[in-house]
Amino acid sequence: MIIAVDGPAASGKGTLAAGLARHYGLPHLDTGLLYRAVGLAVAGKVDQPDFEPAAIATAQALDAAHLENIAALTAADTGVLASKVAVIAGVRAALFDFQRSFATRPGGAVLDGRDIGTKICPDADVKLFIQADSKARMERRARQLEARGEVVDRYALFHQIEERDARDMLNPHGGFYQAADAHLLDTTQMGIEAALRAAIAIVDKVMALKAGGHEPS
Ligand code: C5P
Repeated sequence: MIIAVDGPAASGKGTLAAGLARHYGLPHLDTGLLYRAVGLAVAGKVDQPDFEPAAIATAQALDAAHLENIAALTAADTGVLASKVAVIAGVRAALFDFQRSFATRPGGAVLDGRDIGTKICPDADVKLFIQADSKARMERRARQLEARGEVVDRYALFHQIEERDARDMLNPHGGFYQAADAHLLDTTQMGIEAALRAAIAIVDKVMALKAGGHEPS
């Protein structure tokens, strides 16, 4: 079973995807980490003429070592860098195969990102699109960062998330929209446990219908 989980920055899609992976015993790939790793590696080259070729070369050579420094990868500034390399077609092409082979491993997988249901796994068994309003997303991300000791300027964080949303929406190479066959889950008013229960209910229902059975009650 392949489960595609898409949604905007800090929508909770990563936490939900990890929870779904645990629940169904599937491997999980946070595809945002790949873009973050590329962005971090070329952070010193932003606005320089060799930014694009350096980002493409990094994406082509990406390996597990690039994904080790989770604290640096998940920092708020790295999200902005990721969105800058994510508009480069050569970067997306280089990361496509990695994501596709993860998704098509025997037994299936859960992938979360922006274009999983539209571009990486248009054939996914279940597609979820996670939404939450900008303020709720900012507050969740702020608490995550504070939980690991970072000092958070909520005003700056809100604008950073909006900046990233805007760049992602305009990305000409992405498929950053809800796939026609994706199930929308708005988590603005939900805690993580409730959101995970709702996501599991959607997956169970879709799979039961696919199997030709009855919807689980
Ligand atoms: O999901 P996360 O916030 O970690 O993603 C960081 C950035 O990476 C996004 O803002 C987006 O620009 C890019 N991204 C992407 N396609 C994906 C996942 C992330 O372009 N599948």
